[in-house]
Amino acid sequence: MTEGMIDIHCHILPGIDDGPSTMEESVGMCRIAAADGIKTIVATPHFNHSLRLVHATGICRLVRELNRHLTDAAIPLTVLPGAEAPVVPELPEYLAKGEVLTINESKRYLLVEFHPQTMPLNWDKFFLSLMEKAVVPVIAHPERNEWFSRNIAALYDAVKSGVLVQITAMSITGQFGEEVRAFSSRLLEHNLVHTIATDAHSASHRPPILSAAVKAASEIIGRERARELVGKIPHAITEGAPLSIPEPVKAQMETAAEKKWARRLFH
Ligand SMILES: [Fe+2]
Repeated sequence: MTEGMIDIHCHILPGIDDGPSTMEESVGMCRIAAADGIKTIVATPHFNHSLRLVHATGICRLVRELNRHLTDAAIPLTVLPGAEAPVVPELPEYLAKGEVLTINESKRYLLVEFHPQTMPLNWDKFFLSLMEKAVVPVIAHPERNEWFSRNIAALYDAVKSGVLVQITAMSITGQFGEEVRAFSSRLLEHNLVHTIATDAHSASHRPPILSAAVKAASEIIGRERARELVGKIPHAITEGAPLSIPEPVKAQMETAAEKKWARRLFH
């Protein structure tokens, strides 16, 4: 077990998205996370502008309620507010109105997700415009995105410009298949990963467990750096603090075998 880990991407709030349905289920997930050594979870329900339940006020209310249940159940874990925001043109407007939450209301780091198979045009320029407003996008699980699997150079350029990357624990441990595991490993090797998170949705299907991924990542980048991905870096993200991150490494041309699996991915 690794102590004191921080999970910045988790669907832990009840009845708000495709995560747990009840408060009991949420508490059960927190119990699993605490037993794994996770001390802090950022609740990141899918933001949907037409559902006021997933606006900032609704999320903060549920976070307070869940934390009260955790105190009552003596589970040593704290849940912080956040959201998983889709990359849509209206995002700056939602941020300005305070409807979509940055990670722990830091006003600095914003968890963003792309559609798994299609990329919006000029997303990179859109991210630059967000960063000009001092909002740093944290890309959720690009290793599970078909477009990034064929365009690792674009991810390098994004990281070089200041964008951060989160990969999913179960991607590194192979539960999304060998192709996703291999691409995750490639991202780790090229300093294109800043944090590992669970993206948990339930106690059984995708549970909030990080330690197995830290062990797998340790074999690729060493124990100390793997530990930073669930410790020092996500801690700074939740604090809204500036980050010093390792310089990304440009990936070599893909081998023919890698090109083949990239084409096969999601087909
Ligand atoms: Fe998610």
